[in-house]
Amino acid sequence: MKLIVAKDYTELSRMAADLVENQILLKPDSRLGTVTGGSPAGMYLELVRRHREEMLDFSEVFVVNTDEYAGLSGDHPQSYRYYLEQRFLEPCGIPGERAAVPRGDAEDLEQECRRYEAFCRKHPADLQILGMGHTGHIGFNEPEDHFPEESHVVSLAPETVAANAEYFGSREQVPTKAVTVGIGTIMRAKKILLLVSGRSKAEITYRFLCGKITPQVPATILRLHPHVTAVIDEDALFAVREREPEWLRIRADIRKE
Ligand code: PGA
Repeated sequence: MKLIVAKDYTELSRMAADLVENQILLKPDSRLGTVTGGSPAGMYLELVRRHREEMLDFSEVFVVNTDEYAGLSGDHPQSYRYYLEQRFLEPCGIPGERAAVPRGDAEDLEQECRRYEAFCRKHPADLQILGMGHTGHIGFNEPEDHFPEESHVVSLAPETVAANAEYFGSREQVPTKAVTVGIGTIMRAKKILLLVSGRSKAEITYRFLCGKITPQVPATILRLHPHVTAVIDEDALFAVREREPEWLRIRADIRKE
């Protein structure tokens, strides 16, 4: 795993946009695995700017999102389909048909998981973008006693519900279940870009980088993938820098302008 230290969220977002741009320049019809939430929001803004001001072309890109809240239709303002459309697809000129998101409002969610699993297996991502939740989740794969391989319905951890309450206005309004791709889909991506920012992620970042590989911290499995770039900002690295400064000095690629 390549570990890139960003000084702050702005730099992290710019570095992430650089990596996505490089991917699209190398392979214009790249299949991008996407996530939503706070971690990639600045990256999407920067990609939109580059599309508008620097003609970065997304016309051949295909987007496959990792997850969706159960019970929300794609036009619900808190749905991940809506987030993607507003912040990435529409402003970058990617038509809705070139983006796949699980249907959170499907009548039969188990069947929807099977449909999405078959789709993802047929079309693995060239670049999977990921954030990491406060529980160490990737996609919505929460801590468990095993790494779930396939798309599935998941009960969200209380910490995840609390972290997402700000978007819904209150904890009670946050759905308690979601559909997510499994760890298998994530690990089949050719390349992975993980973004982690903020002091509230410092403890889980320490466990992710320095703890053992365990389904209790799902993101740790990424350390077994052959092509991962983790861009992590100084705030998120706070605990690692305090406890393992030498390890960080040796492992980290600190970019200087
Ligand atoms: P966040 O969520 O980017 O909003 O912190 C991360 C995640 O849940 O994967």
